[in-house]
Amino acid sequence: MHFGVDYYPEHWPEERWSKDVKLMKEANFTVVRLAEFAWTKMEPSENHYDFSWLDTIIDMLGQANIKTILCTPTATPPKWLMDKHPEIYQEDEYNNIRGYGSRRHYCFNSSIYQDYTKKIVSKMAKRYHDNPYVITWQLDNEFGCHNTVKCYCDDCHKEFISYLENKYESIEQLNSELGMDFWSQTYYSFDSLIIPKHTACDYKQGDMYAHNPGLWLEYCRFSSQSVDNYAKLQIDTLKSNGVKVPITHNFMSRFYDIDYYKHAKLYDFITWDCYPNIIHGPFDSIEEVSYHHDKMRGYKNQPFWIMEMCSAQGGWNFMGRTPNPAQIRLWDYQAVAHGANGIVHFRWRTCLFGTEQYWHGVLDHDGVPRDRYKIIKKTCQEFMELEDIIDNTEVLSEVCIVRSFDNVWAHDYQWHSPSFDYNQILSSIHVALTNMHINCDVVDLSVDLNKYKLIILPAYNITNESEVKKIQEYVKNGGCVVLTFRSGNRDEYNKINGLTLPGYFREMAGIDVINYDALGQEQIKIKGITGDTTATLWADIIDPKESEVLASYDSEFYKNTPCITKNIFGEGSVYYVGCHVTTPIYEKILKTVISDLSIIQHVVTPVDGVETIYRRSDNQEATFVLNHNDFPITITLSKPKNIKIHLEAYDVTVVY
Ligand code: GLA
Ligand code: ZN
Repeated sequence: MHFGVDYYPEHWPEERWSKDVKLMKEANFTVVRLAEFAWTKMEPSENHYDFSWLDTIIDMLGQANIKTILCTPTATPPKWLMDKHPEIYQEDEYNNIRGYGSRRHYCFNSSIYQDYTKKIVSKMAKRYHDNPYVITWQLDNEFGCHNTVKCYCDDCHKEFISYLENKYESIEQLNSELGMDFWSQTYYSFDSLIIPKHTACDYKQGDMYAHNPGLWLEYCRFSSQSVDNYAKLQIDTLKSNGVKVPITHNFMSRFYDIDYYKHAKLYDFITWDCYPNIIHGPFDSIEEVSYHHDKMRGYKNQPFWIMEMCSAQGGWNFMGRTPNPAQIRLWDYQAVAHGANGIVHFRWRTCLFGTEQYWHGVLDHDGVPRDRYKIIKKTCQEFMELEDIIDNTEVLSEVCIVRSFDNVWAHDYQWHSPSFDYNQILSSIHVALTNMHINCDVVDLSVDLNKYKLIILPAYNITNESEVKKIQEYVKNGGCVVLTFRSGNRDEYNKINGLTLPGYFREMAGIDVINYDALGQEQIKIKGITGDTTATLWADIIDPKESEVLASYDSEFYKNTPCITKNIFGEGSVYYVGCHVTTPIYEKILKTVISDLSIIQHVVTPVDGVETIYRRSDNQEATFVLNHNDFPITITLSKPKNIKIHLEAYDVTVVY
C-alpha cells in the first residue's frame, strides 16, 4: 500500500522544499506524484531542456524514502509549441479553436503533436528510466477532462474516414449498416463522409440532436480509440527508452467519452481522481463515490489507486464546502475498502496563483500544517497497521451490474424519455445494493459470469448475439438475471433490430413488451412486491405469457397489466423490470430477487448512511464499517462475525 500527495515543487521556492519533504516524511508518506503540468519548466524553449530542478527534488524525496510517480507533461503543451504549430489546437464542432490559457488544448490526432510528444517523453524516459526513486509513470493527466475527447479538426476528420474505411468493406456496406437511406444521407465515397457536427437541425437547448445515430456512435468509438492510440504512443515511447516500472493513468468518475474498459487494458494498473460531494455543483454524492470505486475496480478487475484524493474544500471561481477533517479519513477508508491500494492526496499545498488558487490542499496557502495534515498523517499511520488486511484480502462480490460504453454513448444521444440518464439508473440500483449491505462489482460482459449469483443488466440496449448467448448460458446453468426496460433493442450499428421487445432477451425473459410509455418525470402508480408506490421515466406494457407477475401498474390505460415479471429459463431465472423506481423501491425488488440466492449481507439490520464492505481471502476476512452520518450510530454486523459496533460521527472501523 502506498500513501502520499500530489506535489508541485515548481510552484514554490527551492528553499521551501526541504521543509515540505520533512513534513511528508514525518507523515510517513511513501510516494509523491510530480510534473504532470511542468513541460515548460523542463523545456523552456524548443530543444533547451532543464531537468535540474526535477533531478533535485526526486533525489531529495528519495533520500527521505519517498518514491516518485513521474508524469509525462503532455496535458499542457507550452506556448512556444502552440505558437509554432497552431494546427495542434483542438477544434469544437462550430470550428472554433479551443484556445490557449488553460490546459488540454491539443488534438489527439495531430501528427505534429504526436511527434513532439514522442520527443519530450523519450527525453524524460532516457533521463529517469533507471532512477531508483521513480517507481511508476503516469501518462498525461485525466485524458478527456474538460470535454476534450471529441475534436472536430481536419486531422480528426481524415482519421475518422480511415477508421471507417478500415471497418467497413465498402461505402455501400456502411450506407446500409448505418441506415443512410434516411433523409437521403447516402454517402457516395469514403471521402465524402463527415464528422457529425453542427447541422441545420441542431437545437441543443431543446435536446435535439439530429445526426444519424449509427454515425454518431462510430464517432464516439473513433474518438475514444484516438485517445487509446495516443496513450499507446506514449507507453511505447517510455518502454522503448528503457522504462520498466508500471505505467498508469488517472481516470475520472464522470468522464464518459473514453471506453475505460478498453483503455484500462493499456496500463499495468489504473488510478482515479476522487472528489466527493464538497463542491456546490454536479460532483459526487457519497453513495455515488461508492459506485465509482466499484466501477474503477471493474475496469481491470484488480485493485486501483486514487491518484488525486480530495483533501479539503475545492473550487476554481468559488469554493465548495469545507469537509470535516474526519470525513477526509473516512473517504480514504472508503477508497481502500472498495479496492484502492494506493492513495495520493491532491494537493500538497494550496497554490498562491493560477486557476486553482481556491483548490485547497493538505497545507493551507501559508504552508502551515493544521488539522488536515494531522488527520491525513494519522490515516497513513493506520493504513500501515492495516497493511496486511489491505494487501491480502479483496472485495468479494456475488452480484454485478453490467454496463458498456456503447450503451453509455447510445443512451446519451437518444435518451428515450425526458430525464432518462443511463449512468443515473445504474447508480441508483448500485445505491440500493449499498443500502442492503451487499457488495457489488460493476463490470462489462467480458468477465466470467459464473462467479456471480446475480447479474443486473439495466437498460442493456445495444448488444449482439454472442453477448446474449453468454448470458443465456449463464441463466440456463442456474444463474439469476435482472433485466430492465430499454434492453435488447439495438444492434451494434445503433439500429433498432426490429425484434419484438425485449428483443434479443425476449426468449429468456419469457415476455412480450407490446407497448411502452415514455413517462419523463411523470409518476404513475404501481403495486405488488414494490408495495403501493409510483414509477417514473419509462413504462413497458407487458404481455407476461407464461411468466410470473410480481408487480403491476395501478393507473393509466394499462392499469392492472404487469410491470415486473419473473421467468424460469433452464435452471435459472430472469426478472424483468419494466419501469424505473426510486432506490428504496429497487431495494424491495432486489429483496425478492435475492430471497432464494443466499447472497452475503454483512449486517443484521441496515442503518441509513452506514456503509459496509466485506473483504476476503482464503484465510482472512474483514469488514470495513463507515459511518457517513454526522451523528453516532450502532450497527450489528453479521460478517465476519456477529458483533455490535458503535461509531462516532464520520468514524470508521475495520472488523476482522
Ligand atoms: C482534476 C485534475 C487536477 C486538478 C483537480 C482540481 O481532477 O486532475 O489537476 O485540476 O481536478 O480541480
Ligand atoms: Zn482534432
